[in-house]
Amino acid sequence: MAYHAAYDAWNRDGEAFWGRAAGAIDWYRKPQRIFDGDLGVYGLWFPDGETNSCYNCLDRHVAAGHGDRNALIYDSPVTGKVEHWTYARMLAEVETLAAVYLDFGLSKGDRVVVYMPMIPEAVVAMLAAARIGAVHSVVFGGFAANELAVRINDTEAKLVVSASCGIEAGRAVAYKPLLDTAIAISDHKPAHCLILQREQLAASLDQGRDIDFSAAMDRARRAGVSVPCVPVAATDPLYILYTSGTTGQPKGVVRDNGGHMVALKWSLPNIFGVGPGEVFWAASDIGWVVGHSYIVYAPLLNGSTTILYEGKPVGTPDAGAFWRVIADHGVSVLFTAPTALRAIRKEDPEALLARKYDLSSLRALFLAGERADPDTVRWAEAVLGTPVVDNWWQTETGWPIAGNPLGLGLLQVKHGSAAVPMPGYRVKILDDGGHPVESGTLGNVVIELPLPPGCLPSFWKADDRFRDGYLREFPGYYRTADAGYIDDDGYIFIMSRTDDIINVAGHRLSTGSMEEICASHADVAECAVIGIADPIKGQIPAGLLVVNANVTKPPAEIEREVIGLVRERLGPVASFKTAVCVKRLPKTRSGKILRGTIKKIVDGESWKMPATIDDPAVLDEIAQVLTARGIGAA
Ligand code: COA
Ligand code: AMP
Repeated sequence: MAYHAAYDAWNRDGEAFWGRAAGAIDWYRKPQRIFDGDLGVYGLWFPDGETNSCYNCLDRHVAAGHGDRNALIYDSPVTGKVEHWTYARMLAEVETLAAVYLDFGLSKGDRVVVYMPMIPEAVVAMLAAARIGAVHSVVFGGFAANELAVRINDTEAKLVVSASCGIEAGRAVAYKPLLDTAIAISDHKPAHCLILQREQLAASLDQGRDIDFSAAMDRARRAGVSVPCVPVAATDPLYILYTSGTTGQPKGVVRDNGGHMVALKWSLPNIFGVGPGEVFWAASDIGWVVGHSYIVYAPLLNGSTTILYEGKPVGTPDAGAFWRVIADHGVSVLFTAPTALRAIRKEDPEALLARKYDLSSLRALFLAGERADPDTVRWAEAVLGTPVVDNWWQTETGWPIAGNPLGLGLLQVKHGSAAVPMPGYRVKILDDGGHPVESGTLGNVVIELPLPPGCLPSFWKADDRFRDGYLREFPGYYRTADAGYIDDDGYIFIMSRTDDIINVAGHRLSTGSMEEICASHADVAECAVIGIADPIKGQIPAGLLVVNANVTKPPAEIEREVIGLVRERLGPVASFKTAVCVKRLPKTRSGKILRGTIKKIVDGESWKMPATIDDPAVLDEIAQVLTARGIGAA
């Protein structure tokens, strides 16, 4: 099998393996050294290579005569638009925006925050930054002003590129007021904001700071300056993508240029089985890592056609939306999160809408972002008649740690498993003491160092936080913070997180950060936020609040206010719609809140009374309150 040959080749000589893979990328200076373990936090890939990610995504394909090939198809049921962007057009737009960036005084290493909906200009904004060696940081549109402010502050961005609005469930969501608030509360102030006015809702521009995107592009176009790609070190940052941590402070995952390109370029044909010129659709959002890697960079590096879909799996206009896009654009491989399929299945359990469309172009469906539950996988297999492939990875790794490599030849599918480790990753299961466990035994999932190309070299300006959070607990290994097991055939099963992260509709969120917000309400003495099972979103957060003594405000009012606070500070993406006032929280005798036990009770799972519990009666109390409110299976 090609997979075993590839994995063995990497296992025998990892540097030779990645050195060969690096041959698929164009370099200004070809790396002589493949990996240096003495550099950075755990080593750096291709330390003496020089390259440019925009060049490899666009210029090289145009230079090779593929300028007429579609780079991107923008399919937007929410605006009724479909646009085809060839590689030549994409390059021209990126060059123009790069000229605008230079006019603003941006240069190599400067940061650009991109806060945009799913429109082609967002991709242009990312690649234009890459072209001049600037570092982009995309912020998901569903986050609130405070989250945006944290990112503007931490990156010290010189420029923010944004749009007047996004479109959600038939309504325009104004982005500009969120941006204005973010800048007002951020200590760092970007010099300029470039605002794309959308016809659905215009924004008022702040004289001096805000510049109209289209007008700036027109001026640059008229000036006709050409902007060559700036060579950067392979180890220079391409982007920073913030992801939830165990506190309210998100972690800035850094991605380099060289290793990232080598890994993604290898992954698209070998794991996803997609060739140049073929249409690949990652139905995610550019604000998430799946969007960065598989809407933008991997398909463009590979000379494939990517789809940028501004819509939902349901409601735009119906549960046949995904099938229509596959048929309209001849999608070869689709990649989405299981939650999207659960949403479709709920609306159209028999998949009657799928019968309206010709889905014959589709070869496979890849699922990631959360565990692909066997029931959903079986349903999708029956509807599509293609392999449905789970793959497991994280914002930190940037590409699959484990999967079933369609391109190398599909291995046996085991429902509930993300299949086997990809070359580059030696995955182990350790107990809490750091000892390997027997196959089939649940434990901490770790990856032997060094991480392969494409994975984070560190956090933005926070090496120690990276070491402390990921490398210290199990020396020699990267801690994934996932729990799982490996079976006798080497198949990996990822079951849950070992930290406070929950997965809500494929979106990664920290319950700790929600607790910080709940606790900031003047009437809340203490709280616990847990992720409870949800049939569509996988998990949704629920907050248990203990109110200060002497508060006379009705509990329902406090609950409403706390829900409003989380929406306002973290954003609607948190789906935080359940808050319940309780008399007290169950705790251990040392004062630790027993979140895990509450969650089991709410989810209707079997649970044992923790031996260390301070007062067992509290659990019954909580169960009664939740049952009375119809929350969970309690
Ligand atoms: N801008 C502004 N608001 C946004 C937003 C954006 N880009 N994305 C989501 N929101 C809002 C939604 O409108 C919703 O607001 P509401 O509480 O007022 O209804 C809230 O954030 C929660 O959004 P979401 O979790 O997406 O729920 P939903 O009910 O709108 O849709 C699904 C549910 C399952 C259809 C949707 O989550 C989905 O398509 N998921 C696909 C998986 C995915 O993209 N995963 C990413 C990683 S692969
Ligand atoms: P994110 O960084 O947002 O991509 O979230 C990464 C986390 O999502 C992982 O650490 C897992 O907890 C979870 N996850 C992603 N893909 C899978 C999968 N295929 N199976 C199980 N869990 C997954």
